Amino acid sequence: MSDLEQELSALRTAAEQSLQSADSADALKEWHRTYLSRTGALTTALRRLKEVPADRRAEVGRVANELKTILETALHARETAVEQEADRAGSVDVNVDVTLPGRPLPIGHLHPSTAAIQEIYRIFHGLGFSAYEAPEVETDRINFELLNMPAGHPARDMWDTFYTTTPGLVLRTHTSSFQMHAMWQTAPAPVRVVSAGKCFRYEEVTARSEFMFHQLEGVAVGPGITFADLKSVLLEFANQFFGPGQKMRFRKSYFPFTEPSVEVDVACTLCKGAGCHLCKQTGWLEVLGAGMVHPTVLKNGGYDPTKVSGFAFGMGPERLTMLKYQIDDIRYFFSNDVRFAERFP
Ligand code: PHE
Repeated sequence: MSDLEQELSALRTAAEQSLQSADSADALKEWHRTYLSRTGALTTALRRLKEVPADRRAEVGRVANELKTILETALHARETAVEQEADRAGSVDVNVDVTLPGRPLPIGHLHPSTAAIQEIYRIFHGLGFSAYEAPEVETDRINFELLNMPAGHPARDMWDTFYTTTPGLVLRTHTSSFQMHAMWQTAPAPVRVVSAGKCFRYEEVTARSEFMFHQLEGVAVGPGITFADLKSVLLEFANQFFGPGQKMRFRKSYFPFTEPSVEVDVACTLCKGAGCHLCKQTGWLEVLGAGMVHPTVLKNGGYDPTKVSGFAFGMGPERLTMLKYQIDDIRYFFSNDVRFAERFP
């Protein structure tokens, strides 16, 4: 073995040993300068290749080049290890606690009107009612005429109407139009159904009224249905929606499509009937309109009013929600302010 070969072997041992104790970027730079740079030990040694006997020179040259590759590879590996070690010591991100629960993704939930409609549907489902959908654009005939309000009937003034450019076609002013669809589908068999959806009124928008809102209509027709059935169904509904022990009162009223007609109040949800600002000191809050289906409407729906009777009611999910949670402005529902929607579960 030539002197140079012995020197290269010693150089390798020394370089590998000192690399293991280099533990910072600066130390690694220094190591590179000592062994691998143009003035480093390996280059210096190679300059003496010409001293090696000619028959060994090619072999020693090969060993020296191999050593260069080995040391470069070892340097890269050591650099990576030192970097990782620094990361581990300096930054918390590397120490991930995989047992922590994940961060929840923000997901939406039902709009308060939809949530109220679903809750009301659930209650009436328990009382044997099925749910249907009905059109929002309606004929004058179905929205008014067949509900016992022929053209020119003064009661039409109760509903300020959006007319369309098509004569005879209106945006429904109430879900009572659904009564006709429900009866036509089922007559002469008994029917017990509810339907919720949008209604439209040509009205100024105030804290108490929107030009678009929801209503939920219920209708039951069959032999021997009485006003007592209407009362018990509505009382059961109020107890489930507002909570047990909810008091209710029926006031006589007028709708062309029911006779007799009532408006229904519940005892104030805030003061429990004692009198406060929410109920304007009366102790009562109006929640819906109802009555026994008018014989003319039964006839228009395909029933024989001498054989069957029925009741109908219409309520506003927004209004019910306002009363339940003491919300003082209906405009919150449709103003697209997520802060309002987020207050509901
Ligand atoms: N449609 C009526 C309204 O919009 C409410 C109602 C429904 C009254 C069913 C009686 C029966 O005010």
